[in-house]
Amino acid sequence: MNVVTITLGSLAATTSLGAAIGVSLRPGDRVLLAGDLGSGKTTLARAIGTALNAEPELTSPTFVLISEHRGDLPIWHVDAYRLPVGSDALRAGVIDERQHHGVTLIEWPEHLEGLGAAGTGVLSIHLEAAADEGTRIAVIRGARPELLAVLGPMSDSTQRITSGDARE
Ligand SMILES: Nc1ncnc2c1ncn2[C@@H]1O[C@H](COP(=O)(O)OP(=O)(O)OP(=O)(O)O)[C@@H](O)[C@H]1O
Ligand SMILES: [Mg+2]
Repeated sequence: MNVVTITLGSLAATTSLGAAIGVSLRPGDRVLLAGDLGSGKTTLARAIGTALNAEPELTSPTFVLISEHRGDLPIWHVDAYRLPVGSDALRAGVIDERQHHGVTLIEWPEHLEGLGAAGTGVLSIHLEAAADEGTRIAVIRGARPELLAVLGPMSDSTQRITSGDARE
């Protein structure tokens, strides 16, 4: 499986990443957004939603487990933070049959079981803060070749992208 590491030096870089991901998604895809509090999961989810013309815009509602949005594809946005670690995704109502017709963006996938191995249709992104306040590091696993091709040119002298066949 390919692993792409991108240094996101600004909010604009995160927005660009979200745009690239958004247009690459297909019905049935899941995007797992992992990382600490404030690492940028919702910010990236919103940018993905914007690329898909999400209505209403994706937000970070504190007590809402899952929200549904219209768009170029139906979008489900899950925040599993309040579910206990080890919760079954199906039983918790986080995944269901309808999602085969759209894309599902899941924050705090670490709390869930049963999301499927990273592979076809599952894009796994880990975000973390860097030393610089406005910088985040994104580690992306499971990108399809089309997305990989778009992510490559996002690098500049301040960004670092490594891509390879680091099979897990
Ligand atoms: N390069 C960047 N990418 C994303 N967010 C950034 C960046 N630089 C600064 N930020 C800020 O970091 C914060 C990220 O908040 P966000 O709600 O997206 O995090 P989160 O991972 O969803 O948190 P939570 O775990 O509480 O859901 C925002 O205030 C955002 O403006
Ligand atoms: Mg969030």
